[in-house]
Amino acid sequence: MESPKSKLPNDSERIGNGTSNLNVIGVGSGCGDIDLKILSALHHKYPEMTVDNEVIEPNPQQLRDYRDLVSQTPGLDYVTFIWNEMTAEEFEEQWKENKRTKKADLIHMFQMMYFVKDPEATVSFFQSLLNKNGRLLITLYSGNIGWVKMLDAFSNQLGTAELNRSTDDIKRFLDSKGVRYQSHNLPAKVDITKCFIEGDEDGELMLDFLTQVLHFSKTASPELKAKILEFLHCPEVSVESNGKVLMNADSELIVLEQLT
Ligand SMILES: C[S@@+](CC[C@H](N)C(=O)[O-])C[C@H]1O[C@@H](n2cnc3c(N)ncnc32)[C@H](O)[C@@H]1O
Repeated sequence: MESPKSKLPNDSERIGNGTSNLNVIGVGSGCGDIDLKILSALHHKYPEMTVDNEVIEPNPQQLRDYRDLVSQTPGLDYVTFIWNEMTAEEFEEQWKENKRTKKADLIHMFQMMYFVKDPEATVSFFQSLLNKNGRLLITLYSGNIGWVKMLDAFSNQLGTAELNRSTDDIKRFLDSKGVRYQSHNLPAKVDITKCFIEGDEDGELMLDFLTQVLHFSKTASPELKAKILEFLHCPEVSVESNGKVLMNADSELIVLEQLT
């Protein structure tokens, strides 16, 4: 799978404000593995720059894992980490309460926009924090992949209404407000063969993830399970290659600049 990082160096060609420091904000950073790749790509491109890296992550365990990862990773002395154990919405509230004015050169929101209450408001707030030449990077699953269509088609039975958000939803409100953006496809395939092997433990875990329902195989009606498996196997969702069922899991990267 192509990572957002591989798009970063070219896209970030002009970031920075002429100072020797970059301000980065990671929103919904999880355990930080992708964030550290981003920091490393930035360091590679701007070896002379220091980085203030503000982390926004509401899950305490994920934040602990991120801090552990930082302490185990050598060579991060160019980064100052600022930890915010909170949601993007709480961060926005605190930012406004404290009348903060710091501007950011790079803000990234990878695979987290599914979980915010009001994506339009969140994008608009974080875009307002961008420096001149700053970039806001957003990734979500691409709206045209079959898996998103499946979540959409079965949202009533699965209760996945907010999780079937895709980049289409983001682009819709950006287009309606006339906000300019670039987008790049990040191709990915996931091997879902085990989902079709009755009783396979890995397959059942994968089905939990794909349906966003815990213990789906044990709790769903046989009819629903059959329909979902049929959907996952159709050409719109997956292809068969060398006896494997490979699901299209493309994401899309949306790049926003400072509003002018
Ligand atoms: C699918 S993970 C993505 C983690 C990481 N960015 C990545 O791409 O690997 C989504 C993350 O968003 C966090 N999250 C959930 N709701 C959020 C919110 N309202 N604001 C900020 N982060 C949130 C979760 O705790 C989780 O760590």
